[in-house]
Amino acid sequence: MNETIVNESTANELATNTVFNAVADTIRQRRTIKQFLPQPVPRPLLQELLELAIFAPNHRLTEPWRFYVLDGASRDQLGTIAAQITVEKIMASGVDTALAARKGEEAATTWRTVPTLLYVTMLRDANPEIDLENYGAVCCALQNFALAAHAAGIGTSWSSGAVAAAPALHALVGAGDNERMVGLIRVGYLDPAISPPKARRKSGATHTTWVDAA
Ligand SMILES: Cc1cc2nc3c(=O)[nH]c(=O)nc-3n(C[C@H](O)[C@H](O)[C@H](O)COP(=O)(O)O)c2cc1C
Repeated sequence: MNETIVNESTANELATNTVFNAVADTIRQRRTIKQFLPQPVPRPLLQELLELAIFAPNHRLTEPWRFYVLDGASRDQLGTIAAQITVEKIMASGVDTALAARKGEEAATTWRTVPTLLYVTMLRDANPEIDLENYGAVCCALQNFALAAHAAGIGTSWSSGAVAAAPALHALVGAGDNERMVGLIRVGYLDPAISPPKARRKSGATHTTWVDAA
């Protein structure tokens, strides 16, 4: 326990507080996971995790999150989108068609074999202040989701790259023009045979400034 954050008696109390320790362990141990056991996460469990996600803070109670679950055959359609994006990107760099096609097929396989995928959007708002608040709230919901999933033995990873941002994916799930992609989340059971990646962080103190105006 960092004694610059809490005094000694509070730190001792926290050390024996099982709720605090369970939350702290879950936060520390959650990692970005991209390889899973093959089975999908059952819908009732996924829904339960989403019920926890939405307890995130959201200013003005706009509840700006929209969740689209891709399982079953919809992952094949995502694979096709990923292949197209990859082929276009590689062709633009001047490599031969056969290599581009192979890389496209690899991208398709990578995405369509993720057990479960969650496409998450935020509701847009014409007021920039509310728009930013909505983005922040959906990010909070996604962290809730990732932590609850981790505690249930389920790994997640957040993707915001070209595949996640593809208009074709937005259209595939039926998201509206008033929504913006926040993340495409891979979801699947943790594989006990794969060691989780190491967390890479500087200490929080490195980025903390204590401002005392007195
Ligand atoms: C808004 C946001 C977008 C992200 N986009 C991607 C992404 O496109 N591809 C990726 O591999 N990871 C992405 N990540 C995951 C981060 O790379 C990851 O959290 C970071 O490497 C730290 O690893 P950890 O989650 O295991 O602590 C994203 C995370 C956030 C919060």
